[in-house]
Formats: sequence, C-alpha cells, structure tokens
Amino acid sequence: MLKIESLGTSTARIVYSKDDQSILSLPTHEVLEMFKSFGLLLFRGFGVTYEQMKEFSKKFSSKFVRDPYRQIVGSFDDFVQLVDNGMDEVLPHCENSASPFRPDVVWFCCGVPAAQDGETLFWDGVRVWEQLGEPVKQLFISKRVKFKYNFDAEHWKLFFGAGTTIADVKQTLNNIKDVDYQIQEDESIYFEYTCSVVVKTKFGNQDAFGNSIILYYQEPLYDQEPEVSEEVKSHITENSERVSFEDGSPISHAVIDEIKGVMDKLTGVISWQPGDLVMIDNSKFLHGRRAFQDEQRQIYTHLSYLTS
Ligand SMILES: [Fe+2]
Repeated sequence: MLKIESLGTSTARIVYSKDDQSILSLPTHEVLEMFKSFGLLLFRGFGVTYEQMKEFSKKFSSKFVRDPYRQIVGSFDDFVQLVDNGMDEVLPHCENSASPFRPDVVWFCCGVPAAQDGETLFWDGVRVWEQLGEPVKQLFISKRVKFKYNFDAEHWKLFFGAGTTIADVKQTLNNIKDVDYQIQEDESIYFEYTCSVVVKTKFGNQDAFGNSIILYYQEPLYDQEPEVSEEVKSHITENSERVSFEDGSPISHAVIDEIKGVMDKLTGVISWQPGDLVMIDNSKFLHGRRAFQDEQRQIYTHLSYLTS
C-alpha cells in the first residue's frame, strides 16, 4: 500500500515512495484512479528525473503539447520543457486555457528547488467556484469571456511543430469554433478565443473556475510596484483589454478582486524537493508560482492529453 497524505486543504494528495521504489514501478491503474479522485498528486521520494517524468506520463497519455514560450529540454520531440523563464511571480492559470488547446494534465518535476521561495501554488477550481458570490457566478454564467493576444511566428511554430506552414495553421484554426484570428504581415497571428470561465471537470463533471483570466488581466504588471500610481492605473485599464467579456465590455476590478479574495484563502503550496513529480488535472486545478531569486532553480514541465 502506498502512503498517502493530504496536501493542503483541497482534494490534493501527496504520495510517498516506499523503500526507494521507482516511479515507474507504480501500478498505472491505481495511479489513474487516484488522479481521477484527487486531481493533483505530488509524488515524493521517488527521485524522479525529467526522463522518468516523460516515461511515466507516457503510460497515461495519448498526445503531448508544448508551451509556446518555454525552453525545450532534450530533443524537440520529447515535449519536455523548463518552466517559465524569469523568476517573477506567476499568477493563477490553467495551462493553455486561453486557447482551445488545453491539455488534460500538467506535469512538473523538480530538478533543483530554489534555495528560498519559488514554490508552485495551486487552487482547486471547484472550490473557488463554490465560494464565489452569487452575483459574480451569475455574471460568468451569462457571459463568456474573450482572450486577445498576438502569437508571433517563432512561438506558434514551436507550438504547432517546426514544419508547420501558415496554410496548416489556417486549416487547424478554421475548424475550431470560438476562435477568430488574423494573420499579420510578419506571420504573427492575432488571436481571439471566446470561452466560459466555468468549465466541467474531466472527472466528476463538476463546475470549476478553471481559466486564465487573473493571469491575462494582470500579467504585464509583474514588475510594477505594489503602490498603485496613476500611470499603473492607466496600464491596468489597458492590460485588462487582453481579456474582456465576449461583448467587449471590461471585467471590473471589483470582480477580479473578489475572485482573488476567494482564491487567497484556498491557496495550496508545493514546497519543492529534488526529484518531486506533480501531476495536475488541468480541468480542475489552477496553478501559479511564487517569485524567487535563485538562478539554479530547475523545474521541468510536460503537458499531455490522457489516453482515456
Ligand atoms: Fe503554467
């Protein structure tokens, strides 16, 4: 029997290794059942390398995707990447959820934790949704949101694969509803994606606040001082245009503040140890990161679609 404990106050669990066993020796079916029930599993003491993360994830996955903005590790076709460049805070989001290419599972594996800080944070989107006030819930039930961003050629080629042409991209995007796009002269793609912030969890069909609106609303403010100047205020208005309601009306600061207030009380923390592996249900949990100041930190990531 595996030793399993709660990780924070959500359904997340921590699974401990017994007698230095390899992650690859764990029974696939049992792990999958735990993943379906708990939605976030942290495997500790298995000494997982990024190569093993890939081997392990293959047991559950039919397909892999890349994050278009991350450094690739190993060969291009391994789909293993280092997490976000930089050392700033990363606000809550579900991976690739501002696009129709949301993977089922986000995998993280710790090579070297930061000497201090740099924890990965997580939030159970089902509980966030449950705890939001009724007016905010009704607002998001009645209105979808629209994400707007520019996808430059270097990054969409990384995402879709090196040999992808503009014609391939058009063919892919034309078949996806809720996507509007324009190809620019420099081959960058101006992209708009409309979706609900409330999603059904892949397992259990529960409503979850599973999206990236906090990240898109505030991302460019990373380097700003917390003291809000007039100049920053004008940026906030500008930046909020990266995500709005479907009809173009802005999401108010009050609404964003309410969401953040609920999320602040539900934050789960992964204090990394070398060789930790994390498996996150990307339809249920949001994740983010605390800032850190250690260039040695190495967290690898891998994104996949489940076989079943
Ligand atoms: Fe992420």
